[in-house]
Amino acid sequence: MINVFFASTHSDWAEFSDALRSAFAAADLEVNLTRDIDPALVDYIVYAPTGWLKDFTPFTRLKGVQSLWAGVEKIVGNETLQVPLARMVDSGLREGMVEYCVGHVLRYHLGMDQDVLRKDASWDIHVPPLARDRSVLILGLGALGAAVGEALSALNFNVTGWSRSPKEVAGVRCLAGEAGLDEALGAGEIVVLLLPQTPQTDNVLNAERLAKLPSGACILNPGRGPLIDDDALLAGLENGHIAHATLDVFRVEPLPEDHPYWAHPKVTVTPHIASDTRPASAAKLVADNIRRAEAGEPMLHTVDRSLGY
Ligand code: NDP
Ligand code: OXD
Repeated sequence: MINVFFASTHSDWAEFSDALRSAFAAADLEVNLTRDIDPALVDYIVYAPTGWLKDFTPFTRLKGVQSLWAGVEKIVGNETLQVPLARMVDSGLREGMVEYCVGHVLRYHLGMDQDVLRKDASWDIHVPPLARDRSVLILGLGALGAAVGEALSALNFNVTGWSRSPKEVAGVRCLAGEAGLDEALGAGEIVVLLLPQTPQTDNVLNAERLAKLPSGACILNPGRGPLIDDDALLAGLENGHIAHATLDVFRVEPLPEDHPYWAHPKVTVTPHIASDTRPASAAKLVADNIRRAEAGEPMLHTVDRSLGY
C-alpha cells in the first residue's frame, strides 16, 4: 500500500479526492489517499501552497511531492524538502489559461471597452487593425506561454515570445536571454506575462523595460505579481505610455483594499482566476508520477531547484 498525504485545503480535498482515487485505480496503484496519517508513514505528498504544510522534516520516508499548482515559488526554496518536487502541468490548466489570455488580448485588440457605448457617448467609429498587424509579446514560453502563443498565432496575431533558453514554438518568433528581451519589448503592443516567480524574474517589467514597449502598450499579467514593478507600472499608466493593465496576480493576495490598482481607471483586477488545475485531467498526472516514482523512473515536470521553477 502506498500512503499519499493530501496537504491542501478542505475545499481542494472535496474537489480532488474522488478524481485522485479514480486515477490511482486506473493506474493499478494501491493507494491510501488520506489527510490523517503519521507523517513517518507517508510515501508521497500532494501539495498546494494554500494548505498549512511548511515543515517536511517529519516525513522521514517521503519519496516525492506533487504540487497541484504550476507555480512553485512558495515551496521551491524550502530546505526541509529534500525529495523530487513535481509541478502541475495539466491540460485543463493550459486550456483555461489560453481562454483567459485570448479573451483579454482580444478585448485590447478590438478596443471592446470603447465599443460599449453609453447614452452620453458619441458615435465614435474606430476600426481596429487586423490581428496580423498587432504585435503580442509573451514573456515565458513554457507549458502555458507556448500554448497561449500558438493560440494567438492561429488567430493571426504577430506573436513574439521570450524565454530563458532558446525555444521553437509554431507561429511564434522566439527570442531568448537578456539580449533577446530588448528586441522582444519593441514587439509588445500587448504583453502577456507567463513567467514563474524567481529571483531572476523579480521586477522583470521595470521602469526601463516598460519604457521600451511601444507607446500605448497594454499589459496582461496572469503570471505572478512580483514580475512587475508596481510603482513603475502606475507611473507608466499615469504618463500614458501604458494604456491599460489587466492584473490577475499580486505581491499580496487578496489585493489589499487600499491598493491603488483597485480604483485605477486604467487597471482591471481579476482575483487570481486566470486558470485553475482541473481535477479530472490533473489527477492522471499525479497517478502517473507516483507510478513512475514507484518504478524507479523520474517524475515528470520536476522542478530545477537551482533555477527556481
Ligand atoms: P513553465 O515552467 O513551463 O514555463 C516558464 C517559462 O518562463 C519558460 O519558458 C522559461 O524559460 C521562462 N523563464 C523562466 N525564467 C526565466 C528568465 N529568468 N528569463 C526568461 N525566461 C524565463 O511554467 P508554466 O508555463 O507552466 O507557468 C508559468 C507561470 O504561470 C507559473 O509559474 C505561475 O506563476 C503562473 N500561473 C498562473 C496561474 C493563474 O491562475 N494566474 C495559473 C497557472 C500558472 P525556459 O523555457 O528556457 O525554461
Ligand atoms: C498556479 C496558479 O500556479 O494557480 O497553478 O497560480
